Amino acid sequence: MANQTLSSLEPLVALAKRRGFVFPSSEIYGGLKGVWDYGPLGVMVINNLKREWWHHFVDSREDMYGLDAAILMNRQVWEASGHTGAGFADPMVEDTKTGERFRADHLLGDLGIEAEGATLEEIDALIREHKLQSPSGNQLSSARHFNMMFESKIGATAGPEGQVYLRPETAQGIFVNFKNVVDTMNPKLPFGIAQIGKAFRNEIAPREWLFRVREFEQLEIEYFVSEELWQSEFKKWQVHIQAWHRHIGLREEHVREYEVPENDLAHYSKRTIDYEYDFPGKGFDELAGFAYRTDHDLQAHMKASGKSMEYIEPDGTRVVPHVLEPSFGLGRMFVAVMAEAYAEDEMNGETRTYLRLPTHLAPYRAAVSPLLKNKPALVEKAREVFTLLKQHFGNITYDENGNIGKRYRRQDEIGTPACIVVDFDTIGEGESAHQDTVTVRDRDTGTQKRVLISELIQQL
Ligand code: GAP
Repeated sequence: MANQTLSSLEPLVALAKRRGFVFPSSEIYGGLKGVWDYGPLGVMVINNLKREWWHHFVDSREDMYGLDAAILMNRQVWEASGHTGAGFADPMVEDTKTGERFRADHLLGDLGIEAEGATLEEIDALIREHKLQSPSGNQLSSARHFNMMFESKIGATAGPEGQVYLRPETAQGIFVNFKNVVDTMNPKLPFGIAQIGKAFRNEIAPREWLFRVREFEQLEIEYFVSEELWQSEFKKWQVHIQAWHRHIGLREEHVREYEVPENDLAHYSKRTIDYEYDFPGKGFDELAGFAYRTDHDLQAHMKASGKSMEYIEPDGTRVVPHVLEPSFGLGRMFVAVMAEAYAEDEMNGETRTYLRLPTHLAPYRAAVSPLLKNKPALVEKAREVFTLLKQHFGNITYDENGNIGKRYRRQDEIGTPACIVVDFDTIGEGESAHQDTVTVRDRDTGTQKRVLISELIQQL
């Protein structure tokens, strides 16, 4: 069976909209740039991803704890962490006529000129050297820093005291709770704290569907180690992250590790590996990050708050732990999983589009249908089988619209691994002796087999 890999994201974006995976935000008002909504089927996939991620990185280990910190935090958190400064800003240039703003490194990058991590002076020099103009053909301003944090005011407090930010990473919620977790859970070093939650970045140039957006969800771990162990623990986490990418069905040749060069490291990192995915029509780009953040954050919060961030070893030694940070973005994970699953082939002389989603990630585990919807005995039995499976698995759908062929196509397109049909044999009115069996059709091969209803749960 031939599989056709996507050469761009467009067919996937269209399928996701058509079938209820992802919608543009506030679409009836023309949308909002860089913001997207997950529809009924998209929610099922992201909930599966979050559940599997939590199992893989938290529940299956002994050294991990969970957290769900608030999005709003005291503004001093962001001053201490360095996010209010140039370290968390993108280089921006303006069209001097229209006032439109662009990310300078992206404008240069579009011409094949590498400028990631360049200073403002270097960017200005590159713009002059290549006589770069705005996309409308106008002169560009010199580059300046644009901070990516969304700002707001809390309550009725005026002045800087009322200043708050929407968190641009979930990580800081973990750092400021480090002491609380240590004091309440008495963990042994090394240990980690995991959190899944929303993050916001006022990206100058949101683009490529869910890839670069202004509101997104992160799945982050801060793993606390003593300094001398960071390298050996780093290696172990690399293996664990690779296993995760296999678990969500990403083929090995589509994921690679990219060692981020020193001049491009985030302001808090001494070593970072990006996990890059080969996105259709885009090529390899960042799917997730894995950073050695040293003791930068705990030291910074200790200094700014005056509260100790020390961990006391069993022998009484006091240390400020160093941190390894695997950080995943849910949107990019979703795109990679969907792109990996997207397939086209020919079945029964027709071209079909289907999603080869792993069973643990597919929205529905199975669809149940009566062969004919106008035969009450078939419908009654199909509802019975549906209820049986629904009570066990939860994510089972009942589908009786159109003919069987159409139902199969529809379920293939949303990645349902099995289609179960109740026919005349099931209710003892067929020509063969298959009473109390149903047909189970496999999404990927289209092959069908008869299974006893009493064995269905086990077979699925
Ligand atoms: N706490 C570390 C941190 O936030 P990051 O590399 O800036 O590191 C981690 O972000 C992950 O979050 C990225 O690998 C990506 O998957 C996701 N991410 C970051 N910015 C994003 C954006 N604007 N849109 C979508 N996903 C984003």
